[in-house]
Amino acid sequence: MTSERECFVYIVPPGATEFVTAGRFRWIEDSAGAVGRFVYGRSYRERADAVELDPVELRLSGEVYETARMQGFFGAIRDSMPDFWGRRVIERNAGFTELAEFDYLMEGPDDRAGALGFGLNVEPPAPRRRFNRTLELARLQTAADALIADDPELAGSVGNQVEEMLLLGTSMGGARPKVVVQDEHGLWIAKFSRNDDRWNHPRVEHGMLTLARACGVDAADSRLESVAGRDVLLVRRFDRDRRDAGYRRHRMASALTLLRAGDGHGERDDWSYLLFADEIRRVSAAPDEDLRELFGRMCFNAAVSNLDDHPRNHAVLASGRQWRLSPAFDLTPSPVVALERRDLAMICGRSGRYANRTNLLSAHGRFLLDQAEATALFDRTARIVREQWRTHMRSAGVTERDREAISSAFLYDGLFYGNAG
Ligand SMILES: Nc1ncnc2c1ncn2[C@@H]1O[C@H](COP(=O)(O)OP(=O)(O)O)[C@@H](O)[C@H]1O
Ligand SMILES: [Mg+2]
Repeated sequence: MTSERECFVYIVPPGATEFVTAGRFRWIEDSAGAVGRFVYGRSYRERADAVELDPVELRLSGEVYETARMQGFFGAIRDSMPDFWGRRVIERNAGFTELAEFDYLMEGPDDRAGALGFGLNVEPPAPRRRFNRTLELARLQTAADALIADDPELAGSVGNQVEEMLLLGTSMGGARPKVVVQDEHGLWIAKFSRNDDRWNHPRVEHGMLTLARACGVDAADSRLESVAGRDVLLVRRFDRDRRDAGYRRHRMASALTLLRAGDGHGERDDWSYLLFADEIRRVSAAPDEDLRELFGRMCFNAAVSNLDDHPRNHAVLASGRQWRLSPAFDLTPSPVVALERRDLAMICGRSGRYANRTNLLSAHGRFLLDQAEATALFDRTARIVREQWRTHMRSAGVTERDREAISSAFLYDGLFYGNAG
């Protein structure tokens, strides 16, 4: 049986706060698999402010683009779709009916990362004005708990309306429970703790973001809120810019899209900082600066065992017409036992994923750095992490017990093996 679905793709052009219709996406699924087709509308292409949806795949042209990869979803569209957490909320809201991949695209609310929107009408909807407020975090936290625990009683106590509010944030991707909230400064991603967390995740992630900044990494802005006795991390959305008329939206494309890679295990060969660096060199408006920044992040991730640094946790952002590396986000220490060898999620040097100084420095040229610059950057990062990680965690309110629980993540032995080489 063949099933065919279609929607319009909207975009908020640079500088604007309202959607315009950019093109049409058709998705065809049959027993052999799925293909997607995308075509830009002529009237969109003729606009002075028309921009491409992403910098690698869907260039602005009259061509009919087709893909059979990634279940027929182009990278830019896939980046706008929910991930593990969002799917769970959507399934719950849809009453556990079986959903096709396409439904997840249509069910996500209008708060997704980046500048795109999707709908069935040729005319785009008015942008959403009302968001959840930070004031509502307590109820949202209870609703998230209920969903994780699959507890109808807890769910009953917060009511359906709150579950609907949880939908805000579902399109943001990622596995951890989160919602999008607004305060007088703008939009934030609220990341909740889970009852089964081994340490206080909101506080630790906040400490990681401030530590990264101390190392010179351009990390997302964040703050902590205490809600009904629990901590919530608020990360400021760097893809939205508040204006009197509404929000500007900045296009975003994940490293997965730039690498034309998938999530599947077989596609991990393409998960690489070196290949990502090559793409940045092509698409960034300031490649030297962005590549130095990316190299610094890679060193930081190795120094703190952020082993979950997969390509969905890196992105490029276009706040105007031009693309740049986005701020760093989702930095989490993995306190694993191995002391000799730990692997990053992406290839980081000639010896693969090995989080090791010699390996990290081995491909410095791909980041347009000479050996001396790369060495200085790594050594500075390692020194600051050594000297300051405890202070940053303490300032974030991470308890001594939790600091102990994560301490083996920082500067593990194998990072320095073969130093002389
Ligand atoms: N500050 C931010 N501004 C805009 N988008 C963000 C920001 N932080 C994360 N994102 C987007 O939201 C997704 C999920 O956030 P992330 O922090 O990675 O959550 P998780 O810990 O669940 O993986 C990211 O993959 C990215 O696309
Ligand atoms: Mg993530």
